[in-house]
Amino acid sequence: MRQAGRALPEYRALRERHSMLEMARTPELAVAVSLQPVRRLGVDAAILFSDISTPLPGMGVPFDLVEGVGPVIAHPLRNAADVAALRLLEPAADLPYVAEALRGLKAEVPPGVDVIGFAGAPFTLASYMVEGRGSRDFAHVKRMMLSDPDTWHQLMRRVAESTIAYLRAQAAAGADALQLFDSWVGALSPRDYAEFVQPYTQAVFQALKGTVPLIHFGTGTATLLPLMRRDGAEVISVDWRINLNEAWSVLGPNLAIQGNLDPGALLGPWAAVRDRADEVLRAAAGRPGHIFNLGHGVLPGTDPDNLARLVAHVHEKGATRP
Ligand code: CP3
Repeated sequence: MRQAGRALPEYRALRERHSMLEMARTPELAVAVSLQPVRRLGVDAAILFSDISTPLPGMGVPFDLVEGVGPVIAHPLRNAADVAALRLLEPAADLPYVAEALRGLKAEVPPGVDVIGFAGAPFTLASYMVEGRGSRDFAHVKRMMLSDPDTWHQLMRRVAESTIAYLRAQAAAGADALQLFDSWVGALSPRDYAEFVQPYTQAVFQALKGTVPLIHFGTGTATLLPLMRRDGAEVISVDWRINLNEAWSVLGPNLAIQGNLDPGALLGPWAAVRDRADEVLRAAAGRPGHIFNLGHGVLPGTDPDNLARLVAHVHEKGATRP
C-alpha cells in the first residue's frame, strides 16, 4: 500500500521536523518511516521510503518536491541537446543512502516481512523530465514522440539504462522484490505504448530477470495489459478500473496479479471498505499469485483504523499466507 505511512500520525509527526526529501536521504529516518505501516498496520511487506524522483539529480535533472503537487523540474528536457546532457546514474556515488536504507530496513523488519525496492518506470520518469511536473494531457511528451522520435528514443534509452543500474543496486542491497512504477502509462494508446515505451520497459525487466521477483505497477492500463503481459515482470499491478477476473483472463494463469481495491473506498465507513475488499477477494477466487493491494496509493485523509482493519480482514479471509 504505497503511501500508507502518510495516513499515520507518527509519519506526520516526523514530517513536521523534516522534509520528505530529507527523510528519504537520511537512512535512519527512511528506515523508521518504512517500518511505520508494518508496525501499525501489519502489512506483509515494507516498501522503501523514497520517491520516484530521488534519482533525478544524479542524472543531471534537479527538482523540487512541491507539497500536494509532487516533483517539479525547473528546466524540463525539450530537445536533443537537453537529452544529450543527461548523465548515467551511478547509484553508489549518487545516492548511497538508498542502499544503506535498504540494508537497514532488511535488518529491522520483523521475520516474514519482505522489503520492496522500487524505481519509476522509464515512461513515467521520462515524462516528468519532459513535462517538468505531473500532466493531464502529456502535450510535450506527445509532441516529442511525434516530431522528434530520435530524441524521445534516446531519452528512453538513457533513462532505462539508469533505471537498470538503480534497481541492480537495490537488489544487491537486499531488496526482496522490485517494483517498477509506471503511474502515467495509462495516458498512452496501445500502439504508442508498443512503439515508444515497451522496448525500454522490456529492457529493464530483461536486465533484472533472475535477481528477485519483479512487479510492474501501472494505472489505467486495462487496454495495455495484452502488451504488458509480455514485458517480463512476474507480477502485474492493476487498478480498480478493471475487474480482477477480466485482468486475469487477459494476463493468463502464469502471471501474478497485485490489486485492486480503489483507495477511494477507504474513505468510506468500515462496512463499505469490507464489502469492497470482499468483492476483490471473490474476484481473485483464491487463485495462486494474488497479492491483495490497493490499485493506487492511500489517499490523504484516510482513517488509519480502516487501513489496519483492512489488513486484518484480508489476512483472515484471504486464502493463504506464506
Ligand atoms: O509508500 C511509500 O511511502 C513509499 C515511498 C514512495 C513515495 N513515492 C513517497 C512519497 C513511493 C513508492 C513513491 C512513488 C511515487 N512518487 C510515484 C509512483 C507511484 C504512484 O503513486 O503513482 C509517483 C508518481 C511519485 C511522485 C510523487 N511524489 C507525487 C505525485 C507526490 C505528491 C503527492 C501528494 O499528494 O502529495 C510525491 C510526494 C511523496 N512521495 C510523498 C510521499 C510519502 C508525500 C510527501 C509528504 O508530503 O510527506
